[in-house]
Amino acid sequence: MGDLAELLDRSLAPRGPGQLYDIVRELGLPPDSDVVDLGCGEGVDALRLATHFGFRVLGLDPLQRHLDRAREARRGEPEEIASRVSFERGRAEAMPLPRSSADLVWCRDVLVRVGDLDAAYAEMARVLRPGGRALVHQVFATPLLEPRERDWLFGALGVVRDSADPASTDAAIEAAGLQVDVVLELGSEWEERTEESSGAVSRALLHAARLRRAEEHFRGMLGDTAYDSALADCLWQVYPMLGKLSPRIILLTRPG
Ligand SMILES: C[S@@+](CC[C@H](N)C(=O)[O-])C[C@H]1O[C@@H](n2cnc3c(N)ncnc32)[C@H](O)[C@@H]1O
Repeated sequence: MGDLAELLDRSLAPRGPGQLYDIVRELGLPPDSDVVDLGCGEGVDALRLATHFGFRVLGLDPLQRHLDRAREARRGEPEEIASRVSFERGRAEAMPLPRSSADLVWCRDVLVRVGDLDAAYAEMARVLRPGGRALVHQVFATPLLEPRERDWLFGALGVVRDSADPASTDAAIEAAGLQVDVVLELGSEWEERTEESSGAVSRALLHAARLRRAEEHFRGMLGDTAYDSALADCLWQVYPMLGKLSPRIILLTRPG
């Protein structure tokens, strides 16, 4: 048993989010390629894509406070980076972009929040140039996530149930006429890396345990909505380790 513990103490060398950048590098897109960061949040990846690859990046997000932060971050960049990046209000279901105007759509950790996946993938197909690529990263539920805990977790986090179902994604991609090049099932890999580098996943587990054990205290302090969302946030980080959630990377091409 001691031997097994020692063996399991050894890292399996998990990859982290840098994997997405490795994939973009392998695509070999030239500098000045037109890239959409769909659901850009506070613009971190949009700025990195411009910095690392020299792309022109448009970050789209429906939330004004995210766009404000993204624009603030852009102001802190050197002019040669800032001039390549812009942020606009937009949604996956109706992107404010002309047909055939993008070489790459980057969409990280967004589509579980989108109710109409058919519209989102149809929009990717519309805005991509023939031969253009889409790189999607998304968390999916697995059969180990029991229906009751799934309904509670998704409700607390605003996750659309169908959008976290792999079959809905497969159907939406097919209906949009996009070609699937690669699907990588990440399982617990990114979370293992996070845990090994910072201990953040076991910290989230400890926080979940404290929230549960002193539920009455924390509900009284936070209110029901904030309590549920704090607990759900912790479990969202922990569940990939238990196989209840499994992120995937999906690489697509708009056929020529
Ligand atoms: C978890 S954050 C991810 C942000 C960023 N992509 C990242 O990986 O850091 C999800 C983002 O999706 C955005 N979002 C929510 N609904 C959306 C929609 N219908 N279309 C596009 N983005 C959406 C949110 O405003 C938020 O910024």
